[in-house]
Amino acid sequence: MRIWIESIRDYKGKDVEIRGWLFNKRSSGKIHFLIVRDGTGFVQCVVVKGEVREEVFNLYDKISMEDALIVIGTVREDKRAIGGYELQVKDIKVYSKCSDNYPIPKVRPENIPDVGKLYHYRHLWLRSRKQWAIMRIRSEIEKAIIDFFEDRGFVRFDPPIFTPASVEGTTTLFEVPYFDENKVYLTQSGQLYMEAGAMALGKVYSFGPTFRAEKSKTRRHLTEFWMIEPEIAWATLDDIMDLAEDLIVYIVERVLENRRFELETLDRDIGKLERIKKPFPRITYDDAAKIIEEEKLKGKKLDFVYGEDFGGDEETVISERFDKPVIITRYPKKIKPFYMKLDPNNPEKVLCMDVLAPEGYGEIIGGSQREDDYETLVGRIKEEGLPLEVYEWYLDLRRFGSVPHSGFGLGLERTVAWITGIKHVREAIPFARTIERFRP
Ligand code: 4AD
Ligand code: MG
Repeated sequence: MRIWIESIRDYKGKDVEIRGWLFNKRSSGKIHFLIVRDGTGFVQCVVVKGEVREEVFNLYDKISMEDALIVIGTVREDKRAIGGYELQVKDIKVYSKCSDNYPIPKVRPENIPDVGKLYHYRHLWLRSRKQWAIMRIRSEIEKAIIDFFEDRGFVRFDPPIFTPASVEGTTTLFEVPYFDENKVYLTQSGQLYMEAGAMALGKVYSFGPTFRAEKSKTRRHLTEFWMIEPEIAWATLDDIMDLAEDLIVYIVERVLENRRFELETLDRDIGKLERIKKPFPRITYDDAAKIIEEEKLKGKKLDFVYGEDFGGDEETVISERFDKPVIITRYPKKIKPFYMKLDPNNPEKVLCMDVLAPEGYGEIIGGSQREDDYETLVGRIKEEGLPLEVYEWYLDLRRFGSVPHSGFGLGLERTVAWITGIKHVREAIPFARTIERFRP
């Protein structure tokens, strides 16, 4: 019977067929060990002299990494083998040979300094163990997010990707020609449309790609990334802080439950993830600014000036104070977008929140209560120098039964990078797009 490696434990003592690729091999002379991968897992296949036909035993010298193989054998439990099971080989067929010049080196690719070269071969690099583990964790996180919102009665609501206006500032828009004389932009965030969705459906969430012409070459920036955006009618800033906390705790729990082997493959410090429990510390922008001033006094070189946004280095310094994600609220309005509700206690601040992941991973969530007052919102759009006409439909949401509402956006790749413990968001998505890279 043909099986996938992930289900091997169900076939103890049975004869099965596995179709995959050679991942690695070693031999003690009389016994060959082949590590075969099929995408769902890795299994050690044991070839013993005298127990298989001579030509099968001798295949060992002819097969090499990434040859496509069909292996038939008996499943045996073995605590020492990866995954706890191995295959006692009866027969091997070489389905197709891998050319000699396979460009991904045999040693663990993460030990190789020339990462740029690996990106060039991203389509093959994805087969390596580390990338395999990251992609499986990403998929688990995606599923956890969908389950989280569906279980809470949210309706999935898909905002458009071609949009006529900016959401998060005009400096990171990608322009696309749109027939005749027109042009549109690739969406930076579906939020404005999610607000319309919340007024129609109460609780909505989106899950899709977003685009920003980010000129920064940091380990946290992509030009195409995936965002999950819940939006809730009648919700306040406090409500969405609670929701963000619940969401993050749920995601981490699910990965710990279902992707432990992959975390171990990545040498992730699992204890640090096990500490991700409610409640998360909540501080204001002013508190965070004080932390930075303290660190400066201790000699840390930071460019931060009160009133400005935190950069990557500042975020790292702040998040290092906590072993859980930290929620920072009430930033100055001048560094935040037009749609955020002014703080009634201090109109220079807005009712917003950023969630910073621990271990220096920086902001993974940005959200706010939305300005629901028509006049104030019109004022903010003008203040930002944005063209009022394109926001007319958005202003309708304030004209026709305006209510308080709030939402946030979770950046998928930054969340994956943090949970998997990888350095750079580029490895958190199958084919990364950055200022420097749009191939393969
Ligand atoms: O903080 P941001 O800009 O918030 C919004 O777009 C809101 N409109 C969301 C909302 O309230 N519905 O982006 C949200 C998250 C960030 O916290 C970050 O995790 C991620 O999106 N993000 C990026 N991830 C990778 N590369 C980039 N260039 C990113 N820009 C933002
Ligand atoms: Mg943000």
